[in-house]
Amino acid sequence: MSALFSPFTLKDVTLRNRIAIPPMCQYTATDGMSNDWHRVHYSGLARGGAGLVIVEATAVAPEGRITPGCLGIWSDEQAEKLAQIARDIKAAGAVPGIQIAHAGRKASANRPWEGDDHIAADDGRGWETIAPSAIAFGANLPQVPKAMTLDDIARVREDFATAARRARDAGFEWLELHFAHGYLAQSFFSVQANQRQDAYGGDLAGRSRFMLETLEAVRHVWPENLPLTARFGVIEYDGRDEQTLEESIEVTRQMRAGGLDLLSVSVGFSTPDANIPWGPAFLAPIAERVRREAQIPVASAWGIDAPAIANRTVEEQQLDLVMVGRAHLANPHWPYQAALALKEDKAAWVLPAPYAHWLERYRTSE
Ligand SMILES: Cc1cc2nc3c(=O)[nH]c(=O)nc-3n(C[C@H](O)[C@H](O)[C@H](O)COP(=O)(O)O)c2cc1C
Repeated sequence: MSALFSPFTLKDVTLRNRIAIPPMCQYTATDGMSNDWHRVHYSGLARGGAGLVIVEATAVAPEGRITPGCLGIWSDEQAEKLAQIARDIKAAGAVPGIQIAHAGRKASANRPWEGDDHIAADDGRGWETIAPSAIAFGANLPQVPKAMTLDDIARVREDFATAARRARDAGFEWLELHFAHGYLAQSFFSVQANQRQDAYGGDLAGRSRFMLETLEAVRHVWPENLPLTARFGVIEYDGRDEQTLEESIEVTRQMRAGGLDLLSVSVGFSTPDANIPWGPAFLAPIAERVRREAQIPVASAWGIDAPAIANRTVEEQQLDLVMVGRAHLANPHWPYQAALALKEDKAAWVLPAPYAHWLERYRTSE
């Protein structure tokens, strides 16, 4: 069996293989509520055979949505709808995960295919954004956020904990805290976004305080036996990369000590001026370094869509889990294609029986 198709156990959860579907916003919710699109989308992805399916960035508070079409989990009604999605994913043999998020200064934006920019002030659909400091992201996102008060910080931290409790009660078995991509938690960490003079800014301890306290609040409500993970942008590609990486690894060690079970290694996206070296699996060596130096299991995404490369990242112990995103949108049966490419015995059994029976027969009768 190839490394990619070997099972992976974290706490009491075992994934059937190392393929995970990373959170991918669908921008099709209304008032944060999921609908038939989400049900069909997520159960289709889970049927494809991945070990883990992580539901897209789901906002812990209304102002934490990226766009008006983003999912939310700030009400019991929203959580009840999400529970059906968790059941669908599980019924298809994958572990149901969810990413809980707050978009900070990148919130109140138009959907990517409707401009991907901040909603205009006179539009009526937008809202006031919040962030560590009153500094705009810039470029397509020029809206200046309100600098959070200490009460705001305490409220959002509790929103994360309440969201985690709702996710637990909804049947999710894998929680990912969104500490990446220039959204709220990442911007507390970012020297570009955070110029606070109080305990939540300044040195590394100040800039990581929001993440560590949020993790701690969530740790109290999320079950000990289930994986508690975070996605974190450990590098910005902004010219101060070694320093950022060293700080990120130190914070990761502290998060591990605070109960984090796995880190999904990503990019910071805190500045529009980054110079990102896009390319197949470009982040895997960085993830490997975090894994080794922080002594924590890691996942990572970004251009790992060739089965041989995906398999190699696991085989060479760069990644514990391979996140395959857009390739799954193009082909929800990507794991079957990967199983064929890696010459797995009985590749078709990656699929549910009503498909596998026929595809296995078809292959053997070739
Ligand atoms: C449509 C779409 C929506 C996304 N939404 C999220 C999200 O909700 N949360 C997140 O952390 N990353 C999000 N991402 C980033 C993906 O999780 C992933 O990192 C990215 O697509 C790179 O992996 P890939 O090369 O396999 O597609 C999104 C990407 C896409 C294409």
